[in-house]
Amino acid sequence: MGLRSGAKVLFPVLHIGRHGAQFRHQVSTEKEAITVMMTRRTALKSAALASAGLLISTSLTRALAQAAAPAGPYKLPDLGYGLDALEPFIDRQTMEIHHGKHHAAYVNNLNKALADYPDLQKLSAEQLVSSLDKVPEKIRTAVRNNAGGHANHSLFWKSLKKDADPLDSGPLQEALGELFGDKDTGQQMFFDKAMSVFGSGWVWLSVDKEKKLILESTPNQDSPLMSGRQPLFGLDVWEHAYYLKYQNRRADYVKAMFALVNWPFLNERFEKLTA
Ligand SMILES: [Fe+2]
Repeated sequence: MGLRSGAKVLFPVLHIGRHGAQFRHQVSTEKEAITVMMTRRTALKSAALASAGLLISTSLTRALAQAAAPAGPYKLPDLGYGLDALEPFIDRQTMEIHHGKHHAAYVNNLNKALADYPDLQKLSAEQLVSSLDKVPEKIRTAVRNNAGGHANHSLFWKSLKKDADPLDSGPLQEALGELFGDKDTGQQMFFDKAMSVFGSGWVWLSVDKEKKLILESTPNQDSPLMSGRQPLFGLDVWEHAYYLKYQNRRADYVKAMFALVNWPFLNERFEKLTA
């Protein structure tokens, strides 16, 4: 190293944390620096191996999940953003389980339920829940729950965004004004509706047959589509949506979700639904 014993050097050290690997500088003596250099070589090798292992493990998990999932026309949609994109309001683990396990289970169960019904498979989840009377009684409950779960969650992911632009003008803002009066009253009424859902369900802003905006709730995975209304925005108030972070505190979860409404998406959707 060419350093006199006890000399201090600035030495880069590899730190592997939750945000990935990075070098930080540390003041060391020559002896410490040599030890650190050896540790660094080992760490780099370990990091490379760990990273390769992680890739293999992720691919393997994905392949196994695909192999385990029954073949069928219904697919789990991508979130369209990272699992931690909604932090701190919704944590990564909740998203991982909610999207990757719960929503995936609705998709898999829908594929299973319709395995012997190729004609029904041509319908989207939304079309299925809109016309449950066309579904044989034998599989109607399974289709109601799982097509409902698939449709509801697919809309839910698209309706969430952190730091979305606020709703300053446009037809949706006018409709919200007609329905609630002011913003504070609207939030309070939405909150009260969400808190009034007994057990698991959803609270909705929907568009009725007269193209008017309404506030409603549904139990389980039922959709406004089952009553001839179009869902504009649905808030999932199943415990699986919030239990890991908020435990039993649904009120805290609902209040936090006001910060995650993707207003530009809802405004555009409202325009289409009322065109
Ligand atoms: Fe959910």
